[in-house]
This record gives sequence, structure tokens and C-alpha cells, in this order.
Amino acid sequence: MTSTPRHFLNTQDWSRADLDALLARAAGFKRDRLGDQLRGKSIALVFFNPSMRTRTSFELGAFQLGGHAVVLQPGKDAWPIEFDHGTVMDGEAEEHVAEVARVLGRYADLIGVRAFPKFVDWSVDREDRVLKAFAKYSPVPVINMETITHPCQELAHAMALQEHFGTSDLRGRKFVLTWTYHPKPLNTAVANSALTIATRMGMDVTLLCPTPEYVLDERYMGWAEANVAESGGSLAVSHDIDSAYAGADVVYAKSWGALPYFGNWAPEKPIRDRYKHFIVDERKMALTNDGVFSHCLPLRRNVKATDAVMDSPRCIAIDEAENRLHVQKAVMATLANR
Ligand code: CP
Repeated sequence: MTSTPRHFLNTQDWSRADLDALLARAAGFKRDRLGDQLRGKSIALVFFNPSMRTRTSFELGAFQLGGHAVVLQPGKDAWPIEFDHGTVMDGEAEEHVAEVARVLGRYADLIGVRAFPKFVDWSVDREDRVLKAFAKYSPVPVINMETITHPCQELAHAMALQEHFGTSDLRGRKFVLTWTYHPKPLNTAVANSALTIATRMGMDVTLLCPTPEYVLDERYMGWAEANVAESGGSLAVSHDIDSAYAGADVVYAKSWGALPYFGNWAPEKPIRDRYKHFIVDERKMALTNDGVFSHCLPLRRNVKATDAVMDSPRCIAIDEAENRLHVQKAVMATLANR
């Protein structure tokens, strides 16, 4: 038995020592891909949204450790699920999460859940109800495969930075999380997560976004404040591109919709359209301290970042994507053998 949390819902729930142990274990899996830590075990991967990296890396990660993964897409190849309690289920949903999570927990040793916000009412989305419902009813550990945070991406990013800088100590590095344009208002999950892990690692973090409306939810800003108080890093919000990029060691890009417009996106679109120049390009990267660039992917080239930035040796997005495989094996092996 260990004192690690039962589930992997957010890195903020895990101690720094436990996160460091996951990263060390992931580094071991990067050196030695095959193992038997999941022999005879299985994971049910429940996807409410599309994926390339997450699905592939979880399935192959389970396989490489001797386990088996089953993918379910409720509403497509599995029954639609109800999450509210007390609902008269006379609509689309054929079963309730109370049954789904408990049945899957009888079959599998782990459950992964991907459930993006509905983008209608942030006060509802910020409750992370789907993930929390699975965690509540599941008798086995639940892993967040991206809901309103993306903790597996956080670990993969931290690992890529540690590899690049050749040290697990990232304190004192300037980390810029920059909003970038996208034609659609996207999930804030990766931005919330980047802010969380960079402050947790003691970096000097600047959140660069077009206007105050694009500042992230107070919960994640609060986590970041708490993290820098503990880790010795710093946190700043900037709307000025050049000063934010100046001297940066890391530029991490993500697009997201402004929270005040959840459910009424029409007025947000012309605002977002005014800030296409937030694209990560060679001129901006030249302002950095020979900094590295990364993104969680998928990325629209020449919208979020230029071809030259993506094809530069300073781009570590592919390393980060590879590390999803290793960190998720560490998470699965740790939770399945508690
Ligand atoms: N970064 C990431 O989670 O990629 P997918 O959406 O392809 O899984």
C-alpha cells in the first residue's frame, strides 16, 4: 500500500514526490519499453471526444506492459450515458454512470476517461462532472485522459523539458504560456494544465493572452499562485507579446475560448479574430533565450505556429508527444499495483 491518491485526476492532487516518482518511472520505461507490470490486467478507455495521441499511447502502453486496453465511445459504439442523479431517463441515455463505472470496474483494473466541456455553461463544465462521477462510482483507479485539465500531457511536457535541459530542476527558467488564435473556441484544459505544472516545477511563468477575458479560471490561477508560493517560482499575466517572449526559456502555445463567452460565442469570435498575430513565429522566438517551443498537438500549422517554428530543432512537441507513452505507462503501472 502507498499514500498516493487512488485516482489520477489532476497533478495538483499528487505530492511533488509522487510526481517525481512517476517521472522517474517514465524515464525507465523510455529506456526499457517492455515490461510485465500490467500482466493479466486491463484498462477501459472511455472516450467522449476524438483522440489520436491519447488513444494510441494508452493502448500501446498497456500492451507493452503485458496488459490489454478496451476502447469505448459512449453514444457511438457503447450506450449513451446519463450523469445527473435523479433524472427520469426518458431521453437519449440508456444507462447511468453509476452502473457503467461499477460494471467496468468489475471487468478492468483501471478506467481512463476523456470528457471535454460542453462549451455551453462554464459554471457547469468547471465541475468536471463526468470525470468526478466515474471517480465516485468506480471501484478501480480512474485516469483523466483530458477533461478540464490534461494531467498526462503535463507529465509528458515536464519530462520533455527535463530531458531538454538535462536536469529535473526546472526552477528559474522563464516559461511563457501563450494563447494563440484558432478559428474555434477551444478547451482550456491544456492551458490550465500547463500553468499548473510549470508553477509546480518552480518556473517563472508568464501567462500571455490578448485581453483579461482570456485569463484562465480562478481555480487554476489559484493553484498557480499556491504553487509558486511553495516552489519559489513566479507568476505574471501579460498582454504584451514582445516583453513576454523576451528571455523566455520555454514557449508553450495553446488556444482557448474566453470563459465569459461560454454559451454565447458569437461576440467572442470577432475579438479572437483580432489576435491572429499571436501566432508563434520566428520573430517572436528570436526574442527568447534560445528558448524551446512546444504544444500538446494537434496543431494547425501557420495558424497557431509557423512551419519554421514547428520544423525548428528548438521545437520539442514530438518529444513531448512521445513522452505521453512513457508517462502513462508509469501512471498505469503505479495505480494498477497499489
Ligand atoms: N494531446 C492530445 O491529447 O492529443 P489527442 O487529442 O490526439 O489525444
